[in-house]
Amino acid sequence: MIADDIVLIAKKEISVVKNLKDLNMLKIKYLGKKGYITKQFMLIKNLDKNNRIYKSIICNKQKKQIKKIIIKRKKEIEIEQYNNKFLDQNIDVSLPGKYISPGSKHPITNIIYEIEEFFTNIGFKIITGPEIEDVYHNFDALNISKYHPTRTEQDTFWLDKNILLRTQTSNVQIRIMKQHKLPIKILTSGKVYRHDYDSNHTPMFHQIEGLFINKKVTFVDLKGILILFLNFFFGKKCKIRFRPSYFPFTEPSLEIDILNNNKEWIEILGAGMVHPYVLKNIGINNNKYCGFAFGLGIERLAMLRYNISDIRFFYENDIRFLKQFRSNNFI
Ligand code: DAH
Repeated sequence: MIADDIVLIAKKEISVVKNLKDLNMLKIKYLGKKGYITKQFMLIKNLDKNNRIYKSIICNKQKKQIKKIIIKRKKEIEIEQYNNKFLDQNIDVSLPGKYISPGSKHPITNIIYEIEEFFTNIGFKIITGPEIEDVYHNFDALNISKYHPTRTEQDTFWLDKNILLRTQTSNVQIRIMKQHKLPIKILTSGKVYRHDYDSNHTPMFHQIEGLFINKKVTFVDLKGILILFLNFFFGKKCKIRFRPSYFPFTEPSLEIDILNNNKEWIEILGAGMVHPYVLKNIGINNNKYCGFAFGLGIERLAMLRYNISDIRFFYENDIRFLKQFRSNNFI
């Protein structure tokens, strides 16, 4: 048989096949384990060197061509079958379509975008940081003592001795101060993790962290920016209370509470002037530079704004709850 004869014969046979089952039989006949081409390959062993090379080139070429013919026919049969299916059916083109309502962004995502927009408008740059973090960035560099209760297994999700799920977005402060040139004016948002579960806590929640380092940054700047932000977010009428506080990475430190509808003060953020130890540890000259930082819980803000009594609603995927926050921003 001449080299291309077998391809022609196969092509003829394949072209008249009408269904996938018969096509498969032909595939086995030509390319299967006991098929024509495989047998030809086996015969090559007995040939002398030159013929062996020549014959194997031919066999490979035939194999390739037959494969191609089979694939082409398979596609044709599939299209024929698909078309026949529709010819057999009576389609009522006048039937109205089904409405699929578009999804929308999660309320927490919307709030993050809103806050980011406010801070970018006053010169903050948005950056991101890792959720899986090491002890140095999450605790040590933030001046959090080795014996602080937040480091225990009851509080923190440890992945191994040195690696954990970050408990706060303050980890990003350290990364940014180490990588970026001064001055620094950044905002970062994201998920944080703690061993907690009740109407005010979920094991995963979101924080936004701001950091501003420059020459001559003052406590007044910090207060001014936070008041401006809270007036923007809640409207001018909301009652704000500044309270002295303690965080190992800021000195002095403060917390802000907001009066909710039940006349209770609810804590929403922590802030302060970056502790000189933190700057020094990173190698920033704390005689020349200083700054402020703040961190706020997004779910808390959302709960206050929308009067939501249980944080867990955000993460139970109840469509009736989520629908209430539908906006026109579909993504
Ligand atoms: N990281 C703190 C927390 O999770 C919040 C915080 C307090 C952030 C003071 C700050 C800060 O940047 O200056 O409770």
